[in-house]
Amino acid sequence: PLLRIDVVTIFPEYLDPLRAALLGRAIERGLIEVNVHDLRDWTHDVHRAVDDAPYGGGPGMVMKPQVWGDALDDVCDEATRLVVPTPAGRPFTQDMAHAYAAEEHLVFACGRYEGIDQRVIEDAARRMPVDEVSIGDYVLVGGEAAVLVIVEATARLLPGVLGNPVSAEQDSFSDGLLEGPSYTRPEVWRDLAVPEVLRSGNHALIDRWRRDQALQRTVRRRPELLDRLPEGSLDHHDLAV
Ligand code: ADE
Repeated sequence: PLLRIDVVTIFPEYLDPLRAALLGRAIERGLIEVNVHDLRDWTHDVHRAVDDAPYGGGPGMVMKPQVWGDALDDVCDEATRLVVPTPAGRPFTQDMAHAYAAEEHLVFACGRYEGIDQRVIEDAARRMPVDEVSIGDYVLVGGEAAVLVIVEATARLLPGVLGNPVSAEQDSFSDGLLEGPSYTRPEVWRDLAVPEVLRSGNHALIDRWRRDQALQRTVRRRPELLDRLPEGSLDHHDLAV
């Protein structure tokens, strides 16, 4: 496989969607290998406890280091990058999706409750690269939905996973801008016409129009993205938009 993925969670069935649709096809075709593990397989006690009260007090529970330590010892290897989804992580971006697509082995550690004992991350980082990653500024119940997001964003970049490879290159963010609108037939639908320029057959004009639409959309919806564009990526015409 181009990429091996292991996920450790207390809700293995939550990851079932990984085997559906686009990713399911990639798994069947041997492009990616996905293994989902139940964290409770590494518990030590009859109650199969994975969490305990936080030192220092406060609400919620913290996931126990011994259980996670044993699980990661078994699942991680020499080639692993460990990814721990948490709202306290660095923001996941398209650039990180590209970097993950170039890895050999990703292990995702899904925390629930108030998180995983920090020493688990500290200990793992002595042996392998570890990323604590957030998929956005909102709080989920656990890392599982974030793993679905990160794996989908990563896997679609692998050669052969998407039907049409150019579609990944033309995405929002590939040029640092949001994608503009798209249209298909019919030409008029509920009195709404497709923009005339797209039917002109003038490809220089169409490219220019699409660029303008992307710029306008980015200015209105995500102005902060414009500050992050590489030097010289806006031309004279762009600056007039
Ligand atoms: N776990 C809970 N909330 C999360 C978020 N926003 N991103 C990643 N993992 C999470």
